[in-house]
Amino acid sequence: MKTKKNKDRNALWMSSIDNAAKFIMLLCFLIGAVVIALKQDAWNAAAENAVTLSPMVKSMMSNLLLVYLVVGGIVVVALMCCADKRRVRAQFESIGLTNHAGMTPVLLRKHQERNHSQIIIWEFRNYSIPLEEWEKKRAAIETALSINIIKIEYSAAKRHIRIYAVPASHELQPVIPWSDCYLSNENFVLTLGESHLGLMTVNLNHIPHILIGGSTGSGKSILLKSLLMQAYRKGAVIYVADFKGGVDYPKIWHEKCRMCTDERALLYYLTQLTTVLESRKKQFAESGCPNLDAYNQITGENMPRLIFACDEVAELLDKTGADSERKKLIAQVENKLATIARQGRAFGVHLILATQRPDANIIPGQIKNNMDFRVCGRADNVLSQIILDSTIAADQIPKDTQGRFITGDGTVFQGYFFDESKL
Ligand SMILES: Nc1ncnc2c1ncn2[C@@H]1O[C@H](COP(=O)(O)OP(=O)(O)O)[C@@H](O)[C@H]1O
Ligand SMILES: [Mg+2]
Repeated sequence: MKTKKNKDRNALWMSSIDNAAKFIMLLCFLIGAVVIALKQDAWNAAAENAVTLSPMVKSMMSNLLLVYLVVGGIVVVALMCCADKRRVRAQFESIGLTNHAGMTPVLLRKHQERNHSQIIIWEFRNYSIPLEEWEKKRAAIETALSINIIKIEYSAAKRHIRIYAVPASHELQPVIPWSDCYLSNENFVLTLGESHLGLMTVNLNHIPHILIGGSTGSGKSILLKSLLMQAYRKGAVIYVADFKGGVDYPKIWHEKCRMCTDERALLYYLTQLTTVLESRKKQFAESGCPNLDAYNQITGENMPRLIFACDEVAELLDKTGADSERKKLIAQVENKLATIARQGRAFGVHLILATQRPDANIIPGQIKNNMDFRVCGRADNVLSQIILDSTIAADQIPKDTQGRFITGDGTVFQGYFFDESKL
């Protein structure tokens, strides 16, 4: 403990010494430039009068300020980079990011990401420190380097590590109200929120089903409703399963969506959806169309996308305490959801399911494995593991945030705050 404190103090000292050294170096460089600029005339005269000097030396003397700025600038930048490297090493030492031999990663370069100028890529020689170790120390690295990490990945055949980050001052907004300008023009793209990389979108043409996880109050319902509202505006027919007696879905939703408020209605609607799926399969095959967009384009029809949504899928599929009749019904529901999950993409039938229950058996593998777009809000390790197959949501989504989600590939975003009273 004492050593850690000492290390922290050392790192702090090193960092302030480095900053002071950088400042003094820059100051000296600028004073040198001013002195040379003031004496440039004298150097010019000396260059003209010196007969024995070569023309190259003479020309350097008459352009001394330029030479000084170029050569001196390169030296100063190189020295600053060394100072940066030393500071980073000291910081890593203080947080214990070392390999078995006690070696810390070395900063190789820092540069802007090509498509997102606010993102800086830090590249390190990692000296055999596995990516998992970097991930474990993510929060400590963020504090040490004063950054917000977007992602960490291997490069150069695992010899290097790349950290994509924004400065610590770049925080995601805690609330971003939905505005119609976020509605995508693209077919069939839904916008979820904003990450450090820009708008977070999902294209149902490519990724047909969405699974949303998160504990109570993490923002699942608002995210789900914002997606449903966008899909509705784009002409989709929406089916919503809500067994909570209409608390979650006020009247306005009942006017715009087909609501299933009990299990019989649920099975009826799911049967309808799978029947439509089968008939679309035949129609598409007959007209030689691979998917819904192609079919609509070729035939000139406007066949809508169908979306089945459920805010708490565990409620539909929970078999605990169920009698045999109910178990049979749940099995049928599972079966139909699995069919849509497997085959829905080409035929424009989609699932958007949410859950807060950290129960591994709630969503059967044949449904979950076909839900490629998964996001998780504030969650414990178990729920995060169920939704994303890793604990990143538990590790990276702060407990006090609402509407903050993370995707399987580690992209954190703030979902739009959608106010249904303005629907
Ligand atoms: N995107 C968001 N931005 C800001 N606050 C949000 C957002 N989503 C939800 N919240 C806040 O969190 C509360 C709970 O949201 P809700 O969607 O009902 O959570 P859940 O369905 O996960 O229980 C909301 O009443 C709202 O105050
Ligand atoms: Mg909810």
